[in-house]
Amino acid sequence: MTTGHRVNRTAHTAVVGLQWGDEGKGKIVDLLTSEHDVIVRYNGGANAGHTVQVGDERYALHLIPSGILYGDKTCVIGNGVVVDPEKLLQEIDALRTRGIRVGTNLRISDRAHVVMPYHKEQDAALEEYLSSKTAHAQGNLAIGTTRRGIGPAYADKIRRSTAIRVGDLLDPEYLRSRLHVICTLRTAELEALGVHTAPLDPDALATKYAEFGERLRPHVDDSVYALHDAMGAGKRILFEGANASLLDIDHGTFPYVTSSNCSTLGIPSGTGVPGSAIGRVLGIMKAYSTRVGAGPFPTELDNDLGHRIRERGREYGTTTGRPRRCGWLDLVAVRYSVMVCGATGIACTLLDVLSGFDEIKLCVGYRLPNGTTTDRFIPDAHRLEGVTPIYETMPGWSAEIRDASDRTTLPQEAQRYLARIEEITGVPVEVVSLGPERTQTLVDGRRAVALATA
Ligand code: GDP
Ligand code: IMO
Ligand code: MG
Repeated sequence: MTTGHRVNRTAHTAVVGLQWGDEGKGKIVDLLTSEHDVIVRYNGGANAGHTVQVGDERYALHLIPSGILYGDKTCVIGNGVVVDPEKLLQEIDALRTRGIRVGTNLRISDRAHVVMPYHKEQDAALEEYLSSKTAHAQGNLAIGTTRRGIGPAYADKIRRSTAIRVGDLLDPEYLRSRLHVICTLRTAELEALGVHTAPLDPDALATKYAEFGERLRPHVDDSVYALHDAMGAGKRILFEGANASLLDIDHGTFPYVTSSNCSTLGIPSGTGVPGSAIGRVLGIMKAYSTRVGAGPFPTELDNDLGHRIRERGREYGTTTGRPRRCGWLDLVAVRYSVMVCGATGIACTLLDVLSGFDEIKLCVGYRLPNGTTTDRFIPDAHRLEGVTPIYETMPGWSAEIRDASDRTTLPQEAQRYLARIEEITGVPVEVVSLGPERTQTLVDGRRAVALATA
């Protein structure tokens, strides 16, 4: 028996987005994978899109941890994830076609909840209703979701009696009996949302999803014991956050958030590993801000500058292809995320995108509608909508910096920008990313050639 509590508390690392997603978590997880044995997703589902660029090959991971590209690492989809089996099987097939090993190295929690087709229908129908003219009269409340069924699947988890878990897919008769009740209720709920399709067919769904279960069976595990066994055996765990801290259901810009705890606070519940086991939390932060979907964004640049950032940064969604909204770096928001996530360091990504701007702005406070100011974030969409950003303006730099080999050889202005981020957030910028490639990275000030071994 290897499970135990003699955990090396500094051995385990969390990677978490400090903004509204797409900060480059996939790239940084890939960079850190070589130092870890097990890579674990703890939240979200196929709403995530994590890109890893290896030479000319570009991989977009949605449900599978980014560490899968290494082949010899164990990758775990934890109990806090909502799994769309059809999408997961497509992702497995696509990776195998590209020569990536996906076998017993992929573990899936039997307690992870399943995204069913009706969840995606509900997600789309609710978004359509909320953006329709009827609802619009009250203001547009559509969230701009990825329509991957994430909210409805988590809603069923909380409702309990209408939920399906991965383990249920392995027991066809139990699955069928649950689906008979769920489909009756769900057909009525979809009709109430204005979706007039044929009633859901529980037997057809049960057959199809039991087949998916059979294909996934070799990967399904009690991931809580598996993780504790690994820790007991001295293995190092890397937790891969999906979505981001400002999209956290409890701590983000509610209601324009996703439906899981995507901050590091989701790790204990989403994996069964206590938070005290995590020694290092690397918060991933773009050198500017982006957001996909609706919701407040105080530093948004809905102008030529925003357009320039979008084009230089290729800011189009990895999952939905939607253009991302772009704006200046909001350090009020980032400092709040550092606090909530317990970040011990920052990885500043996409710094190369800011080359060529005469000046660069940093948001260091908000002016409220009543004229007072604050340096505290407001995790409530309705109240955050009304603030005006207070900026510090710093000189920009013109040189392209993608090939820099040392932090000290970056333009002085770029070095000062990083130093100001460290001053305001109170944590060191441990990693600077200067391009999508593994090697376009400075770790502790130096180019990360040695880490790019896979
Ligand atoms: P994630 O969801 O946090 O993993 O981020 P995404 O993969 O959705 O979006 C980040 C995008 O930026 C991807 O296309 C990456 O290849 C790219 N990227 C990551 N780091 C850098 C960087 O330092 N510079 C540039 N130019 N692109 C980067
Ligand atoms: P990664 O892991 C960016 C956003 C959606 C929408 C809101 C709710 O790639 O950083 P949902 O489908 O989750 O109900 O949508 O959250 N969103 C993301 N935005 N990156 C993500 O993931 C996101 N995951 C969800 O755009 O505004
Ligand atoms: Mg993404």
